[in-house]
Amino acid sequence: MAVEVISLEADAATYADRSVPRDIAKRSGEIRELARQRNAVILAHNYQVPEVQDVADYVGDSLGLSRQAAAAGADMIVFCGVHFMAETAAILSPQKRVLIPDLEAGCSLAATINAEQLAAWKAEHPAAVVVSYVNTTAEVKALSDYCCTSGNAERVIRAIPEDREILFLPDMFLGTYLEKVTGRTMHVWPGECHVHAGIRPPDIDRARREHGDADLLVHPECGCASQCMYYKANGDIDADRTHILSTEGMVRHAQEHPNRSFVVATELGIMHRLAKEAPQGRFYAASERAICRYMKKITLDKVLTSLRDDVFEVKVPQEVADKARLAITRMVEI
Ligand code: 13P
Ligand code: SF4
Repeated sequence: MAVEVISLEADAATYADRSVPRDIAKRSGEIRELARQRNAVILAHNYQVPEVQDVADYVGDSLGLSRQAAAAGADMIVFCGVHFMAETAAILSPQKRVLIPDLEAGCSLAATINAEQLAAWKAEHPAAVVVSYVNTTAEVKALSDYCCTSGNAERVIRAIPEDREILFLPDMFLGTYLEKVTGRTMHVWPGECHVHAGIRPPDIDRARREHGDADLLVHPECGCASQCMYYKANGDIDADRTHILSTEGMVRHAQEHPNRSFVVATELGIMHRLAKEAPQGRFYAASERAICRYMKKITLDKVLTSLRDDVFEVKVPQEVADKARLAITRMVEI
């Protein structure tokens, strides 16, 4: 199927003048007022719909959100993201009430491995260090030695002594990418995120043809990440202009290089933040299919209901939380 490369150039240019529809402004005002009354903090992932990003106190990647959850001084966290992220917040802030506005906001990647499967894998490699990407359930984290996100995965792997065997889960594209950059051989779980795996090498080839002067910003979960590494090593693309980055890393990179063009290979929610926070850039999505239906479950109406009716609380049993916290805390500290 032909892949359309869509342009958000116009959005970036006109962002400052864009008027917010009245119902969105009204709903957002109600949410802010309720959050104040309830001493709640609203955290939103970079893939949330624009109006949810705009109403949040903090918008960021998985690592930044974990840090914010741990540091938040509020009584309550309304987590606008997917379930494992809210669980991580609940583990890091057990004294706070953590709410997710829609319980169906799951993650296809986190669903690729459960605690029983990990226990069986560990039994085959009893001496191995287990590194879990943050996109996992609390039960899987509880069986892990380290957690990592796209923002610190390389640092976490490098922190493990060279002679230790590593089990890395659940994302195979991130795992393969990490093997290449660190030179380590790991056992990698064959999981994938359907959204990122769907961004394929032909998407990147086409984007490169159409925007030859653009920087390539690629999320390491993408199906094209390994190919981009290969292009880079082969000298097929300018190594200085190809960057494998977390979503937060993409925003930082665009801010540090104003007036450039960027081909962005990740979920489309990030385009709103890029247009808003790096307004001098020109951003082109590598694939217009890259939409996570789980992230889009959260709407302004559901955020309002969540705050007003105290739904849906995310709780992690204490025994699981205590074990998972060790792996997450190691990640936040590295
Ligand atoms: P980051 O925002 O941490 O890069 O993660 C992307 C992701 O897919 C979260 O589900
Ligand atoms: Fe999970 Fe993929 Fe959606 Fe991220 S984009 S929440 S990894 S399904």
